[in-house]
Amino acid sequence: NTNVLGIDIGGTKIAVCITDAKGNILASDRIASGAAAPYEEALPQVVYLAQALIKKAGLKHDDISGCGICAPGPLDMAGGRIMKSPNMSWDAVPIRDDLVAGLSMPVFMDNDANAGVLAEWFFGCAKGKTDVIYLTMSTGVGGGIVAGGKLLAGTTGIAGELGHIVLDPNGPLCGCGQLGCLEAFCGGRSVALQLQDKLRFRPDHAMYRLPDVQGKLENLNFQAVREGAKLGIPLAVEMWNEICLRLAQGIGICMVTFNPQMIVLGTAAFYAGDFMLQPVLAQLPRFAWKEFRDSCEVCITGLGPKVGELAGASVALNGLYEAGKIT
Ligand code: BGC
Ligand code: NA
Ligand code: ZN
Repeated sequence: NTNVLGIDIGGTKIAVCITDAKGNILASDRIASGAAAPYEEALPQVVYLAQALIKKAGLKHDDISGCGICAPGPLDMAGGRIMKSPNMSWDAVPIRDDLVAGLSMPVFMDNDANAGVLAEWFFGCAKGKTDVIYLTMSTGVGGGIVAGGKLLAGTTGIAGELGHIVLDPNGPLCGCGQLGCLEAFCGGRSVALQLQDKLRFRPDHAMYRLPDVQGKLENLNFQAVREGAKLGIPLAVEMWNEICLRLAQGIGICMVTFNPQMIVLGTAAFYAGDFMLQPVLAQLPRFAWKEFRDSCEVCITGLGPKVGELAGASVALNGLYEAGKIT
């Protein structure tokens, strides 16, 4: 009976949880400041919270087989470090070794979207499949690939950075410095910046009158594009169509490259539902042959926000499994 500790690190929160090998959450809590707080402050908080949760779950230290950390890339997988990125404030922090020292247990680390595909594969709609891709759109766009029944790691462990495949080398600037990445077209941060640039000096525009925007420039975000498109506001419709077209292009590339049985869409697709899925499927024939499309189910995550909770735990389970410590 295996239990693991999962730590999911994001720009705005750190979620810590304890699960068993079936994905039952035995205890969970979060630190609200996330990676916005300095690492020197956050690290001891994480260790303290983890120890408190072990007690809260009615377990002892030795009942926990290992810990999994997940975080947005870029990660230094060999050195166990989280590197600096536009969506995170930490810079080259050696979190894996620090947690080994703080928690005295095996610690595994992976990218948040690689962790997402593991969570879907172990506990979600991809259970029992061998070839699965997870694509998530939140602040950034991330990907994780299970191919032939194994998480694809690549030569330095960072395979699956699907948000940074370049779809148009003359496209919008991405947070990573390249132009025209999938993330530059579909990522929350990038879409918000583009919308705000278009409307900065147009306070009378209909988009400002959306209920969740309340006249504020900083509320013109990805969700505003979605809601504006639903209401038929032309600028939002145009932007939403581009988001769906580019997502279809990204999905098509994944199909042609990996021939997966299933592609699971996270976060933004979870909140948009068919309003995103239907236009994406309609565009897909432009990017992938029928055989690829017919053999692959494109679906929206069934785990929803629980993906995050289970992601860290999935990294721990996969690490223990690949090390031969569990079966
Ligand atoms: C990062 C990925 C991450 C994704 C979602 C991207 O900007 O490059 O590593 O998976 O955001 O957080
Ligand atoms: Na990834
Ligand atoms: Zn990029």
